[in-house]
Amino acid sequence: MSLFYKMGTAAMRMLPAERAHNTTIKALKAGLGPVANKTASPELITQVGGLTLPNPVGLAAGFDKNCQVPDAMLAAGFGFVECGTVTPRPQVGNPKPRLFRLTEDKAVINRMGFNNGGLDEFKTRLEKRHGKSGIVGANLGANKDSDDRVEDYVKGLKALWGMSDYFTINISSPNTPGLRDLQNENAMDELLGRIAEARAELTGSTPSYPVFLKVAPDVDMSEIERIVEQARMYGMNAIIVSNTTIARPDSLQSAHRGETGGLSGAPLFETSTAVLREFSAAAQGKIDLIGVGGISNGQQAYAKIRAGAKAVQLYSALVFKGPGLVTDINRDLKARLKADGFNNISEAVGQG
Ligand SMILES: Cc1cc2nc3c(=O)[nH]c(=O)nc-3n(C[C@H](O)[C@H](O)[C@H](O)COP(=O)(O)O)c2cc1C
Repeated sequence: MSLFYKMGTAAMRMLPAERAHNTTIKALKAGLGPVANKTASPELITQVGGLTLPNPVGLAAGFDKNCQVPDAMLAAGFGFVECGTVTPRPQVGNPKPRLFRLTEDKAVINRMGFNNGGLDEFKTRLEKRHGKSGIVGANLGANKDSDDRVEDYVKGLKALWGMSDYFTINISSPNTPGLRDLQNENAMDELLGRIAEARAELTGSTPSYPVFLKVAPDVDMSEIERIVEQARMYGMNAIIVSNTTIARPDSLQSAHRGETGGLSGAPLFETSTAVLREFSAAAQGKIDLIGVGGISNGQQAYAKIRAGAKAVQLYSALVFKGPGLVTDINRDLKARLKADGFNNISEAVGQG
């Protein structure tokens, strides 16, 4: 990472977390982001849920909620970018402060509450970049005050069909009361059933776009097989494991550790990877997995891949290390593949 970005990241840490984030988005919009070396690395190419990615390291949802800077993040070296969460109607989210850096713990707590500009604005931005290269997905959510949350996901799918390279059904954010209840068996039947119907209607002449399901790490291990089975039955193309956790490990040092919201970053790595391993055991290769949670270096990205992920995503580590991080991770991944005698990512997937 260049000195410029190290200095920029250090300066950002002096601002309150949400202002720093907004400033980062502005800088990226102004073209001030890092540009990764464009040389293709065939060994890093990976297939997940019907997508072919130039490298397995994706930007997790929540960084670019309104899809303002996907191309800047692709240019920074991410193999794919997930924008959102977007809800049908614009929403202000929870009162501020709602984003906290736990510097001592290399962690973040957020209770943003799906603040976003809504589907219309999101769609306009995706339309503007239509035809450009690079995989950009839309993470869909429901409005807090919606009287039909399932319909909100269907609205997202319909509005952005043809514009987004893939969709993520986010039923795992802890900051919209009751949202995680959609992971329960009956609720998932209804939700995934209606999504399958909408996809069948939409597909007609247009190609079918992959749809992923994003789950929480705070899941009862006994529920994992059921979730995998339902996701498969309703034609989901991959499961993203995981969102932030509502757990608070005893190890947390920061004064912010008691804040309400979802915890992400370093303290999430072990649990989210253990949950990923369980999903991998239940999936037996029949549905693809994307590993997210606490990745801040190549070793951790590689550990998720060896635990069964065909691709990974990260967000919190950007807060501490800046967007140059993705190049370092990809370089390190290549070295690890070589050292272990693998020719490509897929050979390492699920190798333990
Ligand atoms: C500030 C913040 C906002 C987030 N917003 C969303 C969101 O809108 N939708 C979503 O699916 N995940 C959201 N996430 C969760 C991340 O996508 C990711 O699953 C989680 O942070 C774990 O990865 P990490 O440890 O690399 O950050 C958010 C995370 C953070 C830190």
